[in-house]
Amino acid sequence: MSLRDDLRTSIFKMIKNDPLAGFYASREVKDRILTVLVAGRHLLLEGPPGTGKTTLAKVISGLLPEMQVIKGCQFNCSPEKPSCHHCKNLTKIKSEKIKDRFVRIQGSPEILPEDLVGDIDPVNAFKYGIDHPLTYRPGKIQKAHRKILFIDEINRMPEKVQNTFLQVLEEGRTTIAGFDIELEIDTLLIATANPEEYAGTERLSANLLDRFECVKVDYPSIEDEIKILKKYANPPFSIDCDTYNKITNISKNLREGRQFSVRGTISVLEQAAAHAMIHGKTVVDTNDIRVALKNSLKSRYEDEDIDVTIKRVLR
Ligand SMILES: Nc1ncnc2c1ncn2[C@@H]1O[C@H](COP(=O)(O)OP(=O)(O)OP(=O)(O)O)[C@@H](O)[C@H]1O
Ligand SMILES: [Mg+2]
Ligand SMILES: [Zn+2]
Repeated sequence: MSLRDDLRTSIFKMIKNDPLAGFYASREVKDRILTVLVAGRHLLLEGPPGTGKTTLAKVISGLLPEMQVIKGCQFNCSPEKPSCHHCKNLTKIKSEKIKDRFVRIQGSPEILPEDLVGDIDPVNAFKYGIDHPLTYRPGKIQKAHRKILFIDEINRMPEKVQNTFLQVLEEGRTTIAGFDIELEIDTLLIATANPEEYAGTERLSANLLDRFECVKVDYPSIEDEIKILKKYANPPFSIDCDTYNKITNISKNLREGRQFSVRGTISVLEQAAAHAMIHGKTVVDTNDIRVALKNSLKSRYEDEDIDVTIKRVLR
């Protein structure tokens, strides 16, 4: 089965519950994401830092079942339908099951096309031949055969590198740097991009955008943010409702002027509880929250008068 079929099957199995459980967003946003996935399209998630984009990509790859691969193949060839030159010529096939169906690329200005499409070791090519496994140095794109390819911050990659994805997106195949070796790649891309107001981002080319479906992920509602805290924060003792409400309301207030990630909310909660704890308490009070905010805002809002901001949000 293709990756898209696998994904579709899992989504329909869980459709009555919530196939995207673990990722919190409005019904409408989840609906749009599922639409893209069931249609088998590539997904671009746009939104501010720390709003669950990576979490979502992992939840999606977690929907995929274990798969059977040819043992030792760097391209995760399927035993039924080998796609690399090496596996196609094997007489005896040993296979194994793998669970992890997630490959990640961190977008940065330094990334090179070879990192994505791989290249060939000329010495080994001469020694063993062009289709020997030791000759290939697969890139992330080949490693993502039959897996989800998660491209974090695609807009931080130089345009030339962004364009490397075009062939995979369009034809489901790739050519290894400069060589006439084509591999079929069965993958689904999930990319993230921060909105343009963030420093160090390149525009995505129209060509690339035309091949993705874009869903905007924004800050969660207060109710959802409380659920996120309950699931992902690790405070040293159990937190009361009132504190959950207070802290999520503070984040909401902070976001009126600037960005404040959900990661930030988690840190405020954990630190407020930690501060209470070192003072022998198991209940968080306003002063604990103030100290936690001071730490969290100091690292995030370099140039601002933090005491004024804290006063504003603790009102
Ligand atoms: N909508 C959400 N659903 C579930 N968890 C979330 C959500 N938003 C944030 N989180 C939690 O906040 C933390 C940061 O989330 P995550 O890393 O997924 O965000 P991101 O959007 O990928 O951030 P960045 O842009 O910085 O890469 C994680 O602990 C995650 O569990
Ligand atoms: Mg992320
Ligand atoms: Zn193979």
